[in-house]
Amino acid sequence: MSFPDIRPRRLRRTPAIRRLVEETRLAPAELILPLFLKEGISEPRPISSLPGTVQHTRESLLKAAHEAVSAGVGGLMLYGVPDNANKDETGSAGLDPEGILNVGLRDLRREFGDDTVVMGDVCIDEFTSHGHCGVLAADGSVDNDATLAIYADMAVAQAEAGAHMVGPSGMMDGQIGVIRKALDKAGHQDIGILAYSAKYAGAFYGPFREAVESTLQGDRRQYQQDPPNLREALREVDLDVAEGADIVMVKPALAYLDVIAAIRQRVDVPVAAYQVSGEYAMVEAAAEKGWIDRERVILESLTSIKRAGAQIVLTYWASEVARMLR
Ligand code: PBG
Repeated sequence: MSFPDIRPRRLRRTPAIRRLVEETRLAPAELILPLFLKEGISEPRPISSLPGTVQHTRESLLKAAHEAVSAGVGGLMLYGVPDNANKDETGSAGLDPEGILNVGLRDLRREFGDDTVVMGDVCIDEFTSHGHCGVLAADGSVDNDATLAIYADMAVAQAEAGAHMVGPSGMMDGQIGVIRKALDKAGHQDIGILAYSAKYAGAFYGPFREAVESTLQGDRRQYQQDPPNLREALREVDLDVAEGADIVMVKPALAYLDVIAAIRQRVDVPVAAYQVSGEYAMVEAAAEKGWIDRERVILESLTSIKRAGAQIVLTYWASEVARMLR
């Protein structure tokens, strides 16, 4: 028996051949740009641990959103950063129709109509004086069920402000079901839910805490997931899909590619991943030192996240990458 001469390298020989057999291809429409809107500032404020990103004014928010949309970015995820004086125990500024987050959602929807997908973060950590994602019980723990009612109202307020989709990120048990019911009851059956289903209590959110001026003391380990656990993520995703999640998300992304892959196998709803602030900051810092090729590492990390099975990626590089891909 003679063998054919099998040589995998034939398919790597020229850029054109490699392009032809490429299995994973990034597209701008699958990227979502997270944006921060800060209350009461007159100039955009750079976020030092997220070089290249800023806390926006209402004006600069629209400008950045236009850049993203015209580059082909698929959607916008808005975070509100209230004035410190407007933080309280229950995060009430997050629900206020005149609160900074709802004001920003209204601005975006008015500006873009249905030309992009406008999304809001449903979580109160930016709005609470203690920085936790829920309200506190007498013993200082985060009270799951008391928080659910707040999330329900917050989601309805965002739908009313014009969000196409809401993104519950607080990891309270039952949050998706409660939000789905509240949206339906208020006549918002068509507003979707992007569920932060498997969100890990890791160390990759550091720069985000600066971005939203978090007041958190301690950590979120009693509600976000423990990094060693994969099966627990599958359970969270099953619950979220059963409760009505339209899209499920894994967060962070690069350190959790196995979780993304397992969830992709498990469910048929779209799977998203969040390339979080720490992932971004590590690349920017190493690139600034001249230790890595910044653009190639950005594209390689996003390609890996997509290859693992995420169809949608939230990334602070969304606009830049969308332009690179053009
Ligand atoms: C909670 C929330 C966080 C992030 C997104 N939504 C912070 C946290 O859980 O502590 C982190 C995103 C990032 O690090 O880029 N509202």
